[in-house]
Amino acid sequence: MEKKDIDWGSLGFGYVQTDKSYVSNFKDGKWDDGVLTPDHTITMSECACVLHYSQSCFEGLKAYTTEDGHIVTFRPDLNAERMMDTCKRLEMAVFPKERFIQAVVDVVKANTAWVPPYGSGATLYIRPFMFGSNSVIGVKPADEYQFRILTTPVGPYFKGGAKPIYIRVSDFDRAAPHGTGHIKAGLNYAMSLHAIVDAHQKGFDENMYLDPATRTKVEETGGANMIFIQGNKFITPKSNSILPSVTRRSLEVVAKDYLGMEVEEREVYLDELSSFDECGLCGTAAVISPVGKINDHGKDICFPSGMEEMGPKTKKLYDTLTGIQMGRIEAPEGWIKVI
Ligand code: PLP
Ligand code: COI
Repeated sequence: MEKKDIDWGSLGFGYVQTDKSYVSNFKDGKWDDGVLTPDHTITMSECACVLHYSQSCFEGLKAYTTEDGHIVTFRPDLNAERMMDTCKRLEMAVFPKERFIQAVVDVVKANTAWVPPYGSGATLYIRPFMFGSNSVIGVKPADEYQFRILTTPVGPYFKGGAKPIYIRVSDFDRAAPHGTGHIKAGLNYAMSLHAIVDAHQKGFDENMYLDPATRTKVEETGGANMIFIQGNKFITPKSNSILPSVTRRSLEVVAKDYLGMEVEEREVYLDELSSFDECGLCGTAAVISPVGKINDHGKDICFPSGMEEMGPKTKKLYDTLTGIQMGRIEAPEGWIKVI
């Protein structure tokens, strides 16, 4: 399929409508067969559960063009499983794993013209999502759901791409203890909107949230997990109120098996950050975004890697992960799904 005539290199992280979306409806206790549709709008009752009680969730993954010209996705099975976990916690219908993976394949195939070419710096972002669609006025889960997947070509999540960013310790929380921080519920992102607008107004790129119970431990940002480097150690925060990032779980394998680093997933205290050499955010959208400085209530924690470029270990992790995703480096068994 002929590629769209787009300046791929200048894309930011925004929405561009592509040819087809995938849609499947859950009604009378079962999912229909699902179809690809050119209709990118949704019509529903003004009383739909999602509109009042935020019964919605989503996922995010990407399609890449590899060095040898194939189109692939990265570990879609993990996104399928995470969405199943999310739906169970939100009392939503569960979309089966194999159907999720097949729908991802089908929707990417239908939008081949929109998959950015190898080396362009852009990728096709794939956004599966689901919402409670029938009318509900008492507080209870919907009986009907719509599962959709939209795709959109994207560039870097943070302007400046691989340039280190400046984040702040947030006084707002995104998740409650024993709440929904560990699942990908839309409501978690609603919670972060005021905090991100406020952070941007004050000159910061992102918020770093602390654990809501004691406010002494590092959690994550609004859309990515945190990673730290100390000597040869790759350290990530362990918490049951952060999202189990596919990127972070993959980087733990990359750090250990490809780079020979020591991997620690443990509680990370705010007051130990100044002992780390490098810091970054990781996620599907963020890939790895280096963090140069963290503002803690007016005081800057500056990482030795600085504000000019990615630290050396972060760069190795970035090169290896993206090398695996783009087919330059052999992937562990089962990580790459060829479309
Ligand atoms: N944490 C949050 C809050 C996110 O929204 C995301 C994005 O999906 C991540 C972490 C990173 O997860 P993943 O690597 O699976 O994209
Ligand atoms: C992702 O990385 O896929 C995300 O969902 C993060 C953000 C765009 C919400």
